[in-house]
Amino acid sequence: MALFKRKNTDSNLPDILPEHIAFIMDGNGRWAKKRGMPRKFGHREGAKNFKRITQYCKDIGIKNVTFYAFSTENWKRPKDEVEAIIELFREYIVDVRNYIGEEVRVLFLGDKKIFDDDLQKKMNDLEEDTKEYSKMTMLLAINYGGRDEIVHASKILAEKVRNNEIESEDIDEVMFQKYLYTADVPDVDLMIRPSGEVRLSNFLIWQSAYAEFYFTDVLWPDFSEKELNKALADFSRRSRRFGGV
Ligand code: FPP
Repeated sequence: MALFKRKNTDSNLPDILPEHIAFIMDGNGRWAKKRGMPRKFGHREGAKNFKRITQYCKDIGIKNVTFYAFSTENWKRPKDEVEAIIELFREYIVDVRNYIGEEVRVLFLGDKKIFDDDLQKKMNDLEEDTKEYSKMTMLLAINYGGRDEIVHASKILAEKVRNNEIESEDIDEVMFQKYLYTADVPDVDLMIRPSGEVRLSNFLIWQSAYAEFYFTDVLWPDFSEKELNKALADFSRRSRRFGGV
């Protein structure tokens, strides 16, 4: 079971913390609109909060943290908004080592091939350079879709069957999981969606099969460390049975 018991040094935190937290960074557009600002201003604030929450997760000892930055469906948004998000993404990954420091492994979830060569290289280099770090894994989902991920894994396995590398009978959940973008990362324990929306939106659909869900009306740019503490307290009170009794 993907949980760990921490040494309780901070009285705001429960003893039991999730091993993997996933965030849907929702509500940036509404946050900006409330202030009479363009949507991309909200994404800029959302990106700042991504940084804050990443650091906090590292500080309190969360082992895996995943953020939904851009979905396979988000390309449908206006061109200037899409460009603003990709630009922010580029800015933050260039700077990432400065704010996460050493010891954090970075992984990207999604099909990188859509991005220009320079950005792809930056993403690949970052994964390569950080692959040995073990304090925390920070996963960024960009051009990511849960169904797309499952189709992608299925194609790899189908190819392996075709090349006689494996028998179709060998395919089970454990093997399948290895071909997801998350590969060796444990399943999501706690899925957090701010902004009042109560859905998964094609995010980590395989990995969240037994996740606990936490929804709040707070918009992502306002989702502070204190809000996360509330979610963690809530999580620690849940009774997780994983299909048992
Ligand atoms: C959802 O809010 C947010 C997104 C689709 C983009 C999230 C991107 C960032 C926070 C910045 C880039 C990422 C990194 C990692 C630097 P929304 O636009 O749907 O908000 P709304 O529901 O209020 O319209």
